[in-house]
Amino acid sequence: MEPAVQSVSVCVEPAVPGDAPAILALHRRVLAEGQWFITEPDEFPEGVDAKVAVIRDAARSQNGVFLVARHQHALVGWAQVVGGGRRRTRHVGRLEMMVDARVRGVGVGSALLAAIIHWAEGSGAVYKLSLNVFAHNVRALALYEKYGFAEEGRRAREYRFADGSWRDDVLMFRLVK
Ligand SMILES: CC(C)(COP(=O)(O)OP(=O)(O)OC[C@H]1O[C@@H](n2cnc3c(N)ncnc32)[C@H](O)[C@@H]1OP(=O)(O)O)[C@@H](O)C(=O)NCCC(=O)NCCS
Repeated sequence: MEPAVQSVSVCVEPAVPGDAPAILALHRRVLAEGQWFITEPDEFPEGVDAKVAVIRDAARSQNGVFLVARHQHALVGWAQVVGGGRRRTRHVGRLEMMVDARVRGVGVGSALLAAIIHWAEGSGAVYKLSLNVFAHNVRALALYEKYGFAEEGRRAREYRFADGSWRDDVLMFRLVK
């Protein structure tokens, strides 16, 4: 879908439990696009209560965060970092993010990712951000590279779609000051 506007001003802030329904609805819409994540829509069991728990866990976490992007009070994107659960991995934060298809390409993802990096730099706990992205996801790859992420490895034919086609998995990382 083409963006409705050329650029948008967004407010990025930590998610609150009341955001759970809108986050969940966006998550389901993006999974239904069928192109960007390994989970197929009917494999996504999460409900509002589970999303509320995720938001609360992130708010208590030193090495995790859940941010939302709002445009004119509508939730248009989110980004989550989940920190490692063991002493030897707790410095690594795994990133996942998505933006509403109606406002892609107008800076929402950039605003979210800039805020995630700013958060990580101030966390005192996360020293590496990492993520996985499909090799065909050129917009996401461009966004991550713009913010200093580099390719760490590539897993060929890691995923198989229902039509029998394969997807390579790109691992990316960015060290945090
Ligand atoms: C990937 C995603 C989060 C990026 O967010 P976004 O709001 O569209 O990104 P932005 O508008 O901030 O654009 C960021 C950069 O991406 C690149 N970009 C934007 N539109 C693009 C397009 N149509 N094709 C290729 N690159 C593009 C540009 O480099 C841009 O930076 P610039 O405008 O300074 O040149 C978003 O498109 C999305 O949610 N996609 C579906 C879900 C997804 O792929 N999530 C990530 C899974 S790993």
